[in-house]
Amino acid sequence: MIRTEHLCKSYCHHSHYEVRAVYDININISQGSFVVFSGPSGSGKTTLLNIMGTLDRPTAGKVFMYGEEITSFSDIALARLRHKKIGFIFQNFHLIPRLASWENVSYPLIPLGISLKERLERARLLLEKMGLADRLDHAPEELSGGQQQRVAIARALINNPEIIIADEPTSNIDDETSVQIREFLNELKTRGVTILVATHDAMFEKVADVVFKIKNGRIE
Ligand SMILES: Nc1ncnc2c1ncn2[C@@H]1O[C@H](COP(=O)(O)OP(=O)(O)OP(=O)(O)O)[C@@H](O)[C@H]1O
Ligand SMILES: [Mg+2]
Repeated sequence: MIRTEHLCKSYCHHSHYEVRAVYDININISQGSFVVFSGPSGSGKTTLLNIMGTLDRPTAGKVFMYGEEITSFSDIALARLRHKKIGFIFQNFHLIPRLASWENVSYPLIPLGISLKERLERARLLLEKMGLADRLDHAPEELSGGQQQRVAIARALINNPEIIIADEPTSNIDDETSVQIREFLNELKTRGVTILVATHDAMFEKVADVVFKIKNGRIE
């Protein structure tokens, strides 16, 4: 479902030295698998997930999705692919300030032309599942870190994505809720969703089909 070929991402820092965030990554992810990326802080996990999720472009190498080389797609084509197929849970949530939880969750449905009524209904169902039935009208700044993370998870699921990309999805959550999140992601896997998770949480390795250990931008 997703394949990378000699994927590299470098940053030029103050134009005199290069940071190799990821280097020569060659991986092959099959549909419906639960894939974990683990590794120390700064090893390149977020960079790699963002590139595979079409949010960022590599400086060299290729990404294939469903056999198509998406690295050659235009920004508009990538956005379309993303809206239809991918759900993101970001490391720092990226919720929209001042918008209510349900509005944040249903935001990705707007470009798909879905009615307000249906957006509200779908957001409500997911937020209830995340234990936030009584926080539908709260803005992110009125929520705790873990609650914001759960709103972000609900938003990632709203378009019934085929691929979920989760960057540290349990970093702000207590153990009990973390268990629920892992079980929830695992349940999605049984429905054929492909799941990519970057995490320091060793418990994820127990539910993963594949664990890639990343160090200094390379797969160990
Ligand atoms: N915009 C940028 N400009 C320069 N260097 C960057 C930029 N973004 C990331 N880096 C560098 O790339 C490397 C990989 O960063 P990345 O965020 O992918 O790591 P990570 O594995 O997700 O870390 P963490 O576990 O702390 O989230 C780091 O050394 C970081 O300093
Ligand atoms: Mg990261």
